[in-house]
Amino acid sequence: MEPYARHVLICTGGFCSQDRRGRSLYALLAKLLQREDLLFGPRRVKRSEAPCLGVCAGGPVMAVYPEGIWYGGVTPQLLERIVVEHLRDGHVLEEAVFHRLQP
Ligand code: FES
Repeated sequence: MEPYARHVLICTGGFCSQDRRGRSLYALLAKLLQREDLLFGPRRVKRSEAPCLGVCAGGPVMAVYPEGIWYGGVTPQLLERIVVEHLRDGHVLEEAVFHRLQP
């Protein structure tokens, strides 16, 4: 497998977002990663969908590793900002973070 810089997990389950909005976000993420040239090379981002990330509220929920940053209430507009500002440019969107791993 090719190395990658970050791994993004999106919950596509129905408890944190009753209408399972994570599913459409997961599809949108692929398009945004392609648009921002993040599918190949040293900034490559791997994406995965998960049936549940154990939060089950305030979703859709997504997590970005290796930073261990968890975002909640992710809308398509917020996802676009996360891709551009965090995944491409390396700046965490603090206002949308609800949990992070301890350093
Ligand atoms: S269903 Fe999304 S975190 Fe559990």
